[in-house]
Amino acid sequence: MKGTFLTDVQELRRRARAHVEAGAVTEGYKGDRETVIKLLNEALATELVCVLRYKRHYFMATGIHAEPVAAEFQQHAKEEQGHADEIAGRITQLGGEPNFHPDGMLTRSHSEYVEGDSLTDMIREDLIAERIAIDSYAEMIRYVGEDDPTTRRMLETILAKEEEHADDMAKLLSSLDPTKA
Ligand SMILES: [Fe+2]
Ligand SMILES: [Fe+2]
Repeated sequence: MKGTFLTDVQELRRRARAHVEAGAVTEGYKGDRETVIKLLNEALATELVCVLRYKRHYFMATGIHAEPVAAEFQQHAKEEQGHADEIAGRITQLGGEPNFHPDGMLTRSHSEYVEGDSLTDMIREDLIAERIAIDSYAEMIRYVGEDDPTTRRMLETILAKEEEHADDMAKLLSSLDPTKA
């Protein structure tokens, strides 16, 4: 039946009416919902840990180069919070529950929470965390594939932002410490 548009309209309407309580999740949903929700909860934890780490770095940034770097930390914290909100929203659309529980958050998270002793340390740790996020989003995107285009699109947009973040941190690092570039 390739080439024809999926099902007849009656069948589409019937499917939409059945299981109305499932909201945005229809019978046509091709993803493994449980797994997608679990992965999204790990992404949520990753983003929340990133918010906390960037906030810590923002408030602890000191020294002559601190001001522009701190501003960047603050900006990233805000953007990671935005990602966390988008992910939590998608989890509820899929009929799941976003896990905001502090217990186990660091275990669910893919990125780490490292405080760092100096400005350079902080930037390096943030760069590492962004590189982890990049790999983990890329893997999730490959997993979701064509099964859940909405989740995939969201993950792709977030991935592009994480790449920007990594680039920001790499540039800051090389401007402060040319030996690490
Ligand atoms: Fe993020
Ligand atoms: Fe990021």
